[in-house]
Amino acid sequence: MKKINFLGFFLFSYFIATGQNATIKSSIKDVESKVDSVLALMTIQEKVGQLVQYNGSWDLTGPASEMNNKQKEENLKAGKVGAMLNVLSVEATREAQKLVMENSRLKIPLMFGYDVIHGYTTIFPVPLAETASWDLEAMERTAEIAALESAANGINWTFSPMIDVSRDARWGRIMEGSGEDPYLTSKVGVAKIKGYQSEDLSNPQSIAATAKHFAGYGFAEAGRDYNTVNVGDNELHNSILPPFKAAAKAGVATFMNAFNEIDGIPATGHKVLLRDILKKKWNWDGFVVSDWGSIPEMVAHGFARDKSHAAKIALNAGSDMDMEGGAYESSLVDLVKEGEVSQDDINDAVKRVLRVKFKLGLFENPYLYSNPDLLEKIPFEEHTAVARDVARKSIVLLKNEDNLLPIKESVKKIAVIGPLANDKDTPIGNWRAQGEANSAVSLLEGLKNSIDEDVDISYAKGADLAIGERSFLMPLKINETDTSGFAEAIRIASQADLVIMALGEDAFQTGEGRSQVNIGLAGVQQELLKAIHKVNKNIALVLINGRPLEISWASENIPAIVEAWILGSQSGNAIADVLLGDYNPSGKLPVSFPRAVGQEPLYYNQKSTGRPSNPVHVTYSGYTDQKKDALYPFGYGLSYTTFEYGNLKLSKEELIPGNPIEVSVELSNTGDKRGKEIVQLYIRDLVASTTRPVKELKGFKPVILNPGETKTVTFELSEPMLRFYNANETWESEAGKFEVFIGSNSRDLKKATFSLEK
Ligand code: NOJ
Repeated sequence: MKKINFLGFFLFSYFIATGQNATIKSSIKDVESKVDSVLALMTIQEKVGQLVQYNGSWDLTGPASEMNNKQKEENLKAGKVGAMLNVLSVEATREAQKLVMENSRLKIPLMFGYDVIHGYTTIFPVPLAETASWDLEAMERTAEIAALESAANGINWTFSPMIDVSRDARWGRIMEGSGEDPYLTSKVGVAKIKGYQSEDLSNPQSIAATAKHFAGYGFAEAGRDYNTVNVGDNELHNSILPPFKAAAKAGVATFMNAFNEIDGIPATGHKVLLRDILKKKWNWDGFVVSDWGSIPEMVAHGFARDKSHAAKIALNAGSDMDMEGGAYESSLVDLVKEGEVSQDDINDAVKRVLRVKFKLGLFENPYLYSNPDLLEKIPFEEHTAVARDVARKSIVLLKNEDNLLPIKESVKKIAVIGPLANDKDTPIGNWRAQGEANSAVSLLEGLKNSIDEDVDISYAKGADLAIGERSFLMPLKINETDTSGFAEAIRIASQADLVIMALGEDAFQTGEGRSQVNIGLAGVQQELLKAIHKVNKNIALVLINGRPLEISWASENIPAIVEAWILGSQSGNAIADVLLGDYNPSGKLPVSFPRAVGQEPLYYNQKSTGRPSNPVHVTYSGYTDQKKDALYPFGYGLSYTTFEYGNLKLSKEELIPGNPIEVSVELSNTGDKRGKEIVQLYIRDLVASTTRPVKELKGFKPVILNPGETKTVTFELSEPMLRFYNANETWESEAGKFEVFIGSNSRDLKKATFSLEK
């Protein structure tokens, strides 16, 4: 404890610094000096307290029911806690904040974190789905809305966006990210961060964001959650780190560790990643929170002897805050006293936490986000309209033989069939925050809301998908046997002009700990689809799912397939908009859809082998029993109109640093409907000091065209776009030949060549 005469002085400067004395508040503006003056007041115990995060799922407003919770409450009062998660509501956050503000010596406000992944109350499409819109403005807007709704409920920190590049459809968390491409993931990550944080974090309608999981979590071997990640430096720097670098540059307030190890070192204890790259090289000044318990989990990894050892490794490596791990709380003070952890490193970690709290405006008003008035002002209706709009933009039309869709006026009898057709819960998805169970507009409801009155809609579930209790925590039980509902489904299908089938995945088939070895239509769904197909071939299959599915049979036999993902609160209305042609689909896949699960991990931006397959040796670097390319590739998606690409034109064929090339293409709408095309730009570096992918996305532009209209679409090709982490272990471009491609997906592209002169 500091001597009392100094304490008076320090407290004086603290109050000046924090603005708690309003009259002199404006005299000190600089956050750093405020942070320093608070730090100077702190005991080691108080410093460690700032690095501890508690889960708050106990009743803060009433008496604590468990001893453990009582102890936590005492620790809050003693200033031994820096942040909490899962404390939900204005009242609960206010109560928790009061414990700190009215009892602790230094009254350093808490931060309140929560997994606001795809909306808070208004639920938007899951991130993988939303990325399929390729609409960065829309994605920024939904983050802004999620922030507003969270902030009005006491939350000032979201554990989002997840910017783990993920290429394995077996991995349950693939639905939480932006898919297989580092460039697209970077763009989406930055849009989300802007939306959550706005220009000014102290705006009470914006919240701190988290770039997670740092790093490599999406590369879990065999798609098993938390599993070992074995990537070398080349893959790490070129494929995994770019979105994180972009997030750091965009000023994301916090980073979260990943559960996995990378090449033998758990990410939570990874000094090179955390200190050398994130904090030094990228010069990022926010704080790193562990993932839930990931510090003590280093014991199970076989990397730490015990909790205390784990705390030492994590803090020394640069993990600043311990989420519910109990390791910092129990060991850090002693570790500092024993010289195992340095005062400097503790100070650095604490400063990082304080900095974010200052930026959030919490020192000026600890209850800024616990304000009941905010909740009353939320324009929920407007948010619902945004949810519908972004949901329809996220839908991807995979197949539309003979223009079965949009539904024609001649269709007077529709049979709506499938376990997900009237499911009001699955569209809310996993990581649903405060999205109410069973609150989504189902597909059946959406159709009934929008369709002409003279159209007759009949409905049969056909079969259940999941049986028993479904929840975030419980493993799901799939119905593998009960086909008793088939007969009724077959009956209505056989009388219909058109069958709309809603199949796919339950909300809880994707998410944390939801990896699968089978990614087909689970349970009896495929059987149901075949049975219906026998009696009526006019089927529009609507897929509702969180990961790429194996749908080879459907792709061959069903005339129309609509990838509708897990779309959130307005799911059914959005799908109806597309089926009825009120919205012309424009989404493009952010992940490759495989022909067979054995192809996973599958991604377009792969490397060439030394023996790429050729017409003579078709199975080289492939398979003997299946093609090796995707069924539907990255970037793929149809429209109700058709687009034609002309040949590429380059403004010149040599690119010189500082002197970009323009590459353009004529795009025409050759169909009969107004439509939006996401024009995509890829490059290939033909020879380099380390091997480069066969294609890499480097740009995209949405273009809206009327029937018959043609527009020239131009991209700039500049030297920085050609940089990569090369054999010199640095980001640079290398002179030589390149290919440039423009087109409607990663497979169907027009090509030209240019060279980089240096
Ligand atoms: C574990 C998950 O991996 C992480 O993404 C999430 O933010 C935390 N739990 C907190 O719920």
